[in-house]
Amino acid sequence: MKIVVIGGSGLIGSRLVNKLREQGHEAVAASPKSGVNTITGEGLAEALKGASAVVDVTNSPSWEDAAVLNFFETSTRNQLAYEAAAGVGHHVALSVVGTERMLASGFFRAKMAQENLIKSSPIPYTIIRATQFFEFVKSIADFSTDGNKVRLPSALIQPMAADDVAGMVGRIATGSPVNGTVEIGGPEKFRLDELIRKSLSANKDPREVITDPRGRYVGIEVSERTLVPEDGAQLGETRFEAWLNQPADQISSLAKGA
Ligand SMILES: NC(=O)c1ccc[n+]([C@@H]2O[C@H](COP(=O)([O-])OP(=O)(O)OC[C@H]3O[C@@H](n4cnc5c(N)ncnc54)[C@H](OP(=O)(O)O)[C@@H]3O)[C@@H](O)[C@H]2O)c1
Repeated sequence: MKIVVIGGSGLIGSRLVNKLREQGHEAVAASPKSGVNTITGEGLAEALKGASAVVDVTNSPSWEDAAVLNFFETSTRNQLAYEAAAGVGHHVALSVVGTERMLASGFFRAKMAQENLIKSSPIPYTIIRATQFFEFVKSIADFSTDGNKVRLPSALIQPMAADDVAGMVGRIATGSPVNGTVEIGGPEKFRLDELIRKSLSANKDPREVITDPRGRYVGIEVSERTLVPEDGAQLGETRFEAWLNQPADQISSLAKGA
């Protein structure tokens, strides 16, 4: 199969391209670095020629409210229009578990707009909603840091390894469109404050985590189950502890998509 991975140079995209190639598929890594830009349309027609599926694993360079909304709306509209012209039969997009519960955030309003454009287009699709990546856990701490303290609620979180995300996205992209949403998550649930404590301590980061029911997750309030998927979500295998204990050279080669 020819599968175009839009955002193919990113954290998930680079892993996905490698996995698809290992399985013998023709995977094209498409992003501004390789001359394909979903905002301007540059390179899209050429990249999509003969493609069976397109996987959108882009992310916006800016999380500012108007900029991120403009990114996901323009990028998605352009992809869908070029896919219709090229006769692509499956549009796969990576979104986030609980998006509709986090609309206080401009980022999640933008992800919701992306999902709605896909649902209202005639292209057969699968929306994959993933939980937070292990690789994103440090950013969660950074968002809630004030001085040497990190204030976070004890809401549930079920994070997963980027490598598992890529494997599951690959399986879905090479299958039939479900014309609906599939949830994927990690093998274990944690308390958000506990997860960040584990992560900081493993990295010898001196910041102190304060459990605070009014603490915010990436700037917004979350309740007990905001971040966790429904029963029936497909679960990755990699445990957080095992991921934390990976040798550093393995992590850096994974980060490079090797
Ligand atoms: N972080 C999490 O925990 C989490 C959880 C669930 C879902 N997600 C979703 O997963 C998706 C992928 O995240 P990620 O962390 O893998 O992203 P990432 O590493 O930040 O990569 C973003 C990719 O988007 C590309 N891109 C940016 N502007 C583009 C444009 N105009 N045209 C085409 N490509 C463009 C970049 O290309 P260049 O390298 O060429 O600039 C890069 O390949 C996101 O949509 C995110 O919402 C994230």
